[in-house]
Amino acid sequence: MAIPEHFLAELRARVGLVELVGRRVKLVRRGREHTGLCPFHNEKTPSFTVNEDKGFYHCFGCQAHGGAIDFVIATEGLSFPEAVERLAAEAGMEVPRSAPRDREAEARRKSLYDVMQIAADWFAGQLLGVAGAGARDYLQGRGLTTASIERFHLGYAPEQRDLLKRTLLSRGLEEAQLIEAGLLIAPEDGGDSYDRFRNRLMFPITDRRDRIVAFGGRALGTQRAKYLNSPETPIFHKGDLLYNLANARRPARDENRLVLVEGYMDVIALDQAGLACAVAPLGTALTEAQLLASWRLVPEPVLCFDGDAAGQRAAQRAARRALPLLQPGHSLRFIALPAGEDPDSLVRTKGAVAFLDLLAAALPLSEMLWRLQVQGKNLETPEQMAGLRKDLRDLVGEIADPTVRTYYGEHFKARLQTAFSARTSAPPHQGRGGNWGRHSGGGWRRGPLYSPPIAAQSGLGRGWKADSYRRERLLIAALLNHPDLIHEVFEELGQLHLSSPELDNIRKSIMEKASSNTPLDLEGLRDNLKGGGMADASAKVIAELTGPGIAHLDPFVRSDTALIEVIRVWTVVYRWHRLEDLRRDLEAATDDLGRDMTEETLARWTVLQEAVDRATAEATGLEET
Ligand code: UTP
Ligand code: MN
Repeated sequence: MAIPEHFLAELRARVGLVELVGRRVKLVRRGREHTGLCPFHNEKTPSFTVNEDKGFYHCFGCQAHGGAIDFVIATEGLSFPEAVERLAAEAGMEVPRSAPRDREAEARRKSLYDVMQIAADWFAGQLLGVAGAGARDYLQGRGLTTASIERFHLGYAPEQRDLLKRTLLSRGLEEAQLIEAGLLIAPEDGGDSYDRFRNRLMFPITDRRDRIVAFGGRALGTQRAKYLNSPETPIFHKGDLLYNLANARRPARDENRLVLVEGYMDVIALDQAGLACAVAPLGTALTEAQLLASWRLVPEPVLCFDGDAAGQRAAQRAARRALPLLQPGHSLRFIALPAGEDPDSLVRTKGAVAFLDLLAAALPLSEMLWRLQVQGKNLETPEQMAGLRKDLRDLVGEIADPTVRTYYGEHFKARLQTAFSARTSAPPHQGRGGNWGRHSGGGWRRGPLYSPPIAAQSGLGRGWKADSYRRERLLIAALLNHPDLIHEVFEELGQLHLSSPELDNIRKSIMEKASSNTPLDLEGLRDNLKGGGMADASAKVIAELTGPGIAHLDPFVRSDTALIEVIRVWTVVYRWHRLEDLRRDLEAATDDLGRDMTEETLARWTVLQEAVDRATAEATGLEET
């Protein structure tokens, strides 16, 4: 096989030699070259060098010498064309086909393509004719438009045992060809051959050059197999192809988006809904070749699986298959559909936007792997945690690319650390805390929060800590009774979160007055409030908070308390109030984390836990001094 020289030149230019060699040999940079221990002979001191600029390696010990292609041939035992194919796939290039030596085989293949095209056209004709009425109804019932039917060149294989055979033979095609093309089945016992596809909806499958090479046939009657595919033939290797790849290539590149779904009908439904960049494997688990073909189009194809157990298994298989093939910048994303839905049913019932939303929220491969590892696992004992660590390490070990492997290793290590520190600091939880996916109540808390004694000298009555409304009233009352206080706590007041609308109204008015530099007097404040919607309610609250009752209950708000003391106590209450706010947020985050442990929920929980710790220290520390 002659591969054009210009192609080889470009391939050599695109392949990173240091990166390629570095997968097998530990290299150290030395000036313009990299050196390491020669993989071709046994040595203790490095005499093997790689020169990226010149594109070759050379060993001064054993005289091994060559470029990227030679290296792959020498280290992996591949033939020249195989090595070229391998490197080209990694570099995202397609090896140009040139005239093969075996012209006869080529001619035969050519005629097979012709046979398939003739058969596809005949199936399409049958769909439009009398025999296809039932199939047409079926397609209409599934919401397929005529345009889609034409675009995907759908057809119908009639019920008769050998109608296709008789028709094509009468057109001069040979029986042997039809058998080789997989259109006829020749019984082992030597009986008459007959049509493989009968009473089926026919989906032509094309290769990457858009030539029809096979069919998928969906049962319309009560046949045993729902889908029947063409057998492997000289022109059809199902593991190498993706359904709709030829159509999807351009939109995928243009939109930088490629979606891998499970079924032919899913591809067509998405296409009809405006998403032309969907492809599907041909009824088997995703193969290496299919992954590489996807990466040739986009760096992060999105895999879309059913939400059920089978879909999960398929996702896990695909994720693992991808590991040895990962390259810097090349990864996968995952969508899990709601159980019982496939993309087809989803876009039909919920619309294309619903699917786009799912796409936008697709999980990165790292997240998927993490979830698959922690899901349903008990992680309470050191042994169980060690088990998880080992499983993750094994996964990382399957990544061939050293850079990606390093990053994955660090990623999981960090996640484990965060997860375990959250985990181990939780008090053991009886009964229900074992599952990562399950909510474990307050079990995530780092022990009970320090609860300081209420300082006797704080000038506060009882009950303000537990009663958030009481706190809010105190904070505002102090400001109303001490107009100068605002200048001391202006910033805090800006961050203060008040759940009572009247009080918050007053808070805003106070801040407005303070920032406009007008003296804070009650009259002015009331005037200011009149503009708003709650003037009456707020005025009533102001009257209450400045009346004798409040001063009696909480002496610190009285106007005759020294300002310095008011500031101190106000700050105590303020900090406590903020702490309670944060605690509430933390509780919600704990619930979220218990329900669904993801990077985001864990990160939010961690941030809030730290904030609560800090706020606790502040609130209590201040009171102690
Ligand atoms: P599904 O069973 O999910 O079918 O198989 P589907 O595509 O949603 O089809 P409808 O909606 O019921 O018409 C997904 C894919 O698995 C392969 C086919 O490629 C199919 O598109 N398959 C399924 C087979 O090869 N053989 C089967 O018997 C079933
Ligand atoms: Mn379906």
